[in-house]
Amino acid sequence: MQNFIIRGGRPLKGTLDIHGAKNSVLPLVSAAILLNGKSVLHNCPELSDVTAALEILKSLGLEYIKQGSDITVFSKKPDNCLIPDELMRKMRSSVMFLGSILGRTGKAVISTPGGCMLGPRPIDIHISALKKLGAKVTENHGLLEFEAENGLVGTDIFLDFPSVGATENIILASALAKGTTTIHNAAREPEIKDLTDFLISAGARISGGGTDTIVITGVDSLGSTEHTVIPDRIEAATYMAAAAATGGSITLNRVNPSCLTSVNEALKKAGCEIISDDNTITVIAPPRLKAVKSVETRVYPGFPTDAGPLLISALSTACGTSVFNETIFENRFVFIDELSRFGAKINTYGTVAVIDGVENIWSAECNCTDLRGGAALVIAALKADGISKIGNICHIKRGYEDMPENLRRLGAEIKEV
Ligand code: UD1
Repeated sequence: MQNFIIRGGRPLKGTLDIHGAKNSVLPLVSAAILLNGKSVLHNCPELSDVTAALEILKSLGLEYIKQGSDITVFSKKPDNCLIPDELMRKMRSSVMFLGSILGRTGKAVISTPGGCMLGPRPIDIHISALKKLGAKVTENHGLLEFEAENGLVGTDIFLDFPSVGATENIILASALAKGTTTIHNAAREPEIKDLTDFLISAGARISGGGTDTIVITGVDSLGSTEHTVIPDRIEAATYMAAAAATGGSITLNRVNPSCLTSVNEALKKAGCEIISDDNTITVIAPPRLKAVKSVETRVYPGFPTDAGPLLISALSTACGTSVFNETIFENRFVFIDELSRFGAKINTYGTVAVIDGVENIWSAECNCTDLRGGAALVIAALKADGISKIGNICHIKRGYEDMPENLRRLGAEIKEV
């Protein structure tokens, strides 16, 4: 098992470039299935989830070249329509291939998707939307088969909840469908707009990406395109929270500050100074954070659920009591038991975490339970005096490129063993 060994207690200081967004690149790799010719993606992060997405492409008979942060997919109709079970299990986002395979071939077979264990993560919204587009769905021996013999047909779809993944799957499934699909109550996350921008650049007819009403008029085919993946707002939030926790001051380049407004606001309430321009953010933290009376996760542009564990970890040494309400994922707090090993005083009551800030936390041995919970443990280890050991870092590698190197650039003492 690989571990991070971190000697904490130093404020982070310096400048860092943020990578491309994990949650954009995965649907974009999936979208490449809908095109003919070359799909060139720039600014792709080097992550195990991206490797898994490329393995899915390979299993479908599509070839690609990866050179540094560029991925070129030789887009064509897949040779088959089945995502192998071991790849489905590797990550939740494997479900993002459903819409594009079905939209391109008229059939898709998947098993239950894997990913972070954040509580029940059903795909009922995806399934009912694809049914509305004309897919027949059958379940056999743990496999879900989607079939639209005469192709998908556009329609009006109202989402009971603005699911990010379901919105992306509907867009992917509708891009080559007959007629017009309108998604009402669509997710508005920046990664959705990145997907629609990519598809539009390949010839798709889509309007409203990034708003709650998205209109997709199916076209006969999509051609080659080149696209640069947007910056990863959660990677940025992670280093910002780490700087805040350690009383540091850092500048992040290649970010989109307008996508981080809710995170900036929470950190300002905690006493940080935030200075931003078009594509940089500087965080200047006080020696000790102030408690934040109330933070609640919400769909975009609200406070992102993915940044919750990061903020909770930073607030564990704030002055006073903070209250955090998680409204998106039931089991987001699984990492808190591990965080308590550092001496953090956090009680949970259902979806609410009450964080009684302690003056100092101590170093600890702990294990990552999930991707963002793992990053929260790294933040605690950076704050704590002494040497901490964090195990199960495969979770972190799903979503952070070169985390140790980046942190060393900011003056942290961290190694992977
Ligand atoms: C995406 C992000 C993830 C982020 C989440 C919320 C990717 C690869 N992952 O995940 O990092 O935390 O958005 O911003 O982009 N739900 C259902 N039925 C469904 C679909 C979702 O009940 O069919 C529920 C989920 O269980 C969860 C909530 O809706 O409680 C949000 O899920 P969703 O927005 O779909 O998140 P993901 O697309 O899985």
